[in-house]
Parts: sequence; C-alpha cells; structure tokens
Amino acid sequence: MDQLDKQKAFEEETKRISETVSKIKHRIAVFSGKGGVGKTTVSVNLAYAFHMNGFSIGILDADITGPNVPKMLGVDGKPIVLSNKFLPFEKFGVKMISIASLIQSGQPVIWRGPMRSKVINQFLADVDWGELDYMIADLPPGTGDEILTIAQQMKPDYAVVVTTPQEVSVLDAERAINMARKLDIPFVGVVENMSGFICPHCGAVLNIFGEGGGKKLADDCGVPFLGSVPIDMDARILGDKGKPIVLEKPNCEVTNAFKSISNLIQEHYQKESQAK
Ligand SMILES: Nc1ncnc2c1ncn2[C@@H]1O[C@H](COP(=O)(O)OP(=O)(O)OP(=O)(O)O)[C@@H](O)[C@H]1O
Ligand SMILES: [Mg+2]
Repeated sequence: MDQLDKQKAFEEETKRISETVSKIKHRIAVFSGKGGVGKTTVSVNLAYAFHMNGFSIGILDADITGPNVPKMLGVDGKPIVLSNKFLPFEKFGVKMISIASLIQSGQPVIWRGPMRSKVINQFLADVDWGELDYMIADLPPGTGDEILTIAQQMKPDYAVVVTTPQEVSVLDAERAINMARKLDIPFVGVVENMSGFICPHCGAVLNIFGEGGGKKLADDCGVPFLGSVPIDMDARILGDKGKPIVLEKPNCEVTNAFKSISNLIQEHYQKESQAK
C-alpha cells in the first residue's frame, strides 16, 4: 500500500467511525487506575441494568490484552461477517464485540499500543452496531493507549471510574479521574466496588478493602459518587458462569446497587438534555 492508499484507507475508516458514533446517543468509558477492581463486572452489569430499563446497548471490550467480556456474558464462537462488517454478538439483548472472540482461547495478545488501538478503531469502524442508546467501553487498567484511542474515536460523554475502597486503588483512581479530564470527557462519576462483605452466616459487614475510599475520592475531586457495590460471592460465581448477577438475582444488594448507579447516570443524561 503506498502513502496515498494509506491516507485514503485512513480517511475512509475515520468516516466509518464517525458514522457509528453518530448513531449512539451516549457513550460511557469504564476505567480505573488499578487492575482487578471490577471494571468488567461493572460494565456488564450496568449494561443489563440499562437494558432492563428499555434501552438498547452495546459493550465494546476495549481490553485487548485481557478481554473478559465474552466470558462474563457467556458468549463463545466467532462473530459473523456480513457485507464487510462484523455483526456484534447479542446476549440477553445486549450487543458485544471483543478480541477474545477473534483469537484462539488462552492465547496471549502480544501487541504494542498502535496495534491495540487499530483493533479498537476496527471495533468502531467495521462492526454493525446499528442505533444504540448506550455504548459501554470496558477498558484495561491504567492510563495507556486504549483509553486514549477510546477518548479520541468513541468520544465518551461519561467516564465511570471504578475503585475499591483501599488506598492504593483510590490513588490510582485519582489518576484515572484526572486522565478523563485531560481527555476532555465531559462528565466523570466514581463507583466503589467491593465495598464490604456481608457474612452469609452472621450478617456482619466486613470491610475487607477498607471503607469510604470511593466517596471521599469523589468528594475530593468534585465529581459525583455513583454508589457502592458490595462484595458478593455470587457476583464472582455468576460472572465466571457468564450469567450477570443483575439478571440472575434481580433483588440482591449488588443488583440494587447497579440499578441505582444506572438510574443516576440516566438522570444525569435527562438533566443534560433538558438543559439544552
Ligand atoms: N462486587 C463483587 N463481588 C464479588 N466479586 C466481584 C465483585 N466485583 C468483581 N468481582 C470479581 O473480581 C474479579 C475481578 O473483577 P473484574 O474482572 O470485573 O475486574 P477488572 O477491573 O475488569 O479486572 P482487569 O483489570 O483485569 O480488567 C472477578 O473474578 C469478578 O467476578
Ligand atoms: Mg476487566
């Protein structure tokens, strides 16, 4: 491919990305400074909480080196290609695309930043998402290339920063909030995950990862605190089985927390549109 062809291909891809983005009303990036704090769990369960309220929704798995969304949705197989576009998977009404569905299970993705960004671009340019109320991008931990690409191409209008209550996670989450600001994502909210464990035997609350870190962070940074999600063994067990807890246990504390978080985000968008 000579320089001119490359330029043309780039322009065409940019155009396809803009077309995709123009058909998605709201775009949410879920990220954190630290790994393993529950970004994918939050992305998947928030998606179903939105869907339960009648919204159409897609999850873009932007974690290229540690893609977990298909596992947590219980999706396997390869996506179908139709008229040069991938059809996203659809599970219980939520659309999804992930690199995990395109590579052999268990194989590592050893790609530098530009390759990872290229895949994210393709997920926007070459996947037939159709019209959506919400797209959620589930990001890898940290402030690397993936969030830069998502910010530039998907143009999120909301960043959900996930932290656990413990100090090291909160410290990294502060970096994530500041990154969201630097990237001009207009709104940021904090979710505290793994906020205490209710002992199934005696009912006592054990604050395994500490207490109140997420709320304090949100207050210190002047951003809304969206809510706390407790530790529940079923959240992990059902996540591993590809059965989101919000669908499987519609009345438990974790589900109520996700519903409340999704309601706060919806209220935010409603206020936004009324103010326009
Ligand atoms: N509230 C919760 N209660 C119990 N288990 C949870 C909870 N939130 C997440 N988990 C479990 O903790 C593990 C890590 O969660 P998850 O994969 O969502 O984190 P992550 O931030 O996406 O990780 P990574 O940084 O690797 O992408 C998973 O096994 C998940 O099922
Ligand atoms: Mg994850």
